[in-house]
Amino acid sequence: MANIAVLGAQWGDEGKGKIVDLYSERSDYIVRYQGGNNAGHTLVVDGNKTVLHLIPSGVLHEGKTCVIASGVVLDPEVLMEEVNELVARGLLSEKRKTKILISERAQVIMPYHKLLDRLREGLGGKAKIGTTVRGIGPCYEDKVARRGILVCDLLDPILLREKLELALKEKNVVLRELYGEKVQNIEELHHWALKMGEKLKPMMCDTRVLIQEALSLGKSILFEGAQGTLLDVEHGTYPYVTSSNTITGGIFTGCGVGPKSLEHIIGISKAYTTRVGTGPFPTELNNDLGEEIRKKGAEFGATTGRPRRCGWLDLVTLRYAVEVNGLTALALMKADVLSELNEVKVCVAYEVDGKRIEHLPSQIRVYEKVKPIYETFKGWPELPQRAQGLSDLPKTFAAYVEYLERQLKIPVVTVSLGPGREETLTRLIY
Ligand code: IMP
Repeated sequence: MANIAVLGAQWGDEGKGKIVDLYSERSDYIVRYQGGNNAGHTLVVDGNKTVLHLIPSGVLHEGKTCVIASGVVLDPEVLMEEVNELVARGLLSEKRKTKILISERAQVIMPYHKLLDRLREGLGGKAKIGTTVRGIGPCYEDKVARRGILVCDLLDPILLREKLELALKEKNVVLRELYGEKVQNIEELHHWALKMGEKLKPMMCDTRVLIQEALSLGKSILFEGAQGTLLDVEHGTYPYVTSSNTITGGIFTGCGVGPKSLEHIIGISKAYTTRVGTGPFPTELNNDLGEEIRKKGAEFGATTGRPRRCGWLDLVTLRYAVEVNGLTALALMKADVLSELNEVKVCVAYEVDGKRIEHLPSQIRVYEKVKPIYETFKGWPELPQRAQGLSDLPKTFAAYVEYLERQLKIPVVTVSLGPGREETLTRLIY
């Protein structure tokens, strides 16, 4: 199989886990390149539900090499919990020949990162992003400020102590003076970090070298995105975004590979839109229909359990996702949730101060004035759980899919008809 990227085309929670699981059957390596355990993938295989936050979803297939590359921020305790659970369930074993490898250069989420994330969010008001409070933002901040702790630093007691001393000089002032919190104890942190280093050691390697070797051997790689395009720190609805590059570009920086290593880029989108946390959402439905979609689609966060905000599909944001990611195909998820509605709407442009705009505004306050311009489609009846082609699906739904293809100028290669692996229409195999 070719090398492919699977990433979110909206605000995250599009159902990437299912698509990664599906496509990784034919991949040798599955690589996470950004984000951390702010992600949450729910996978249903043979009726059993598995939620993964850090380990690539491909781990549920036998014989795969699952890689956490250097662009990821890694919480060692969360990783070990997931590893232990997979071992206990017999999903990670010598016999299944599945490997998990982590980059020596990935950044470590330290306990003070989580604490700071929580305290900041607690300030409320404009400071509140509605983060997952997993320490993601504070950890990436330290990376860019060049004072982060790398996974390989956990094996070097002297360097680790120096780095912790430097970090705590600043963190402890902020904790005490700004938040009135207890300061962090260096001895405890140093001990904890070294202990984590010993646990992670068997999984550590230079994942850049590993990936390059795989590429030169002609192995197939699936790059698994987390969050979604509109949560990208540069191209999303800033400042209501996550702290990493969630778009295709994040693969190159987060793994140390060049653009030629990628052949197909599949964007994942629901047939509607959801968002968790604060921030603009032009097509949000603050009404009974929004509530109905939330209930029927079980739209509650896999990581934090928060109810997701729900609304109509937004082609302004989807066209943007096609452009910034260079998407070559789309996977459409959860269309079954919209079945039996009389009509289904799609936002085709925005109106701002009486003017029609087709591009995403940069200024965050403009979103307060945005009015979605909708096109209305006839709804579709209950979708079958299995289908071989669009012709097996209700005509009104097939027309909706074909409309999206024309608008986005890319094919819809996969249509998800339910949560299970087998409840999927695959129109193209890579
Ligand atoms: P953080 O990534 O925890 O810093 O959160 C920043 C923003 O990204 C918040 O609005 C979160 O709700 C959102 N976010 C982070 N991870 C995910 C995800 O996996 N799915 C959906 N939203 C996410």
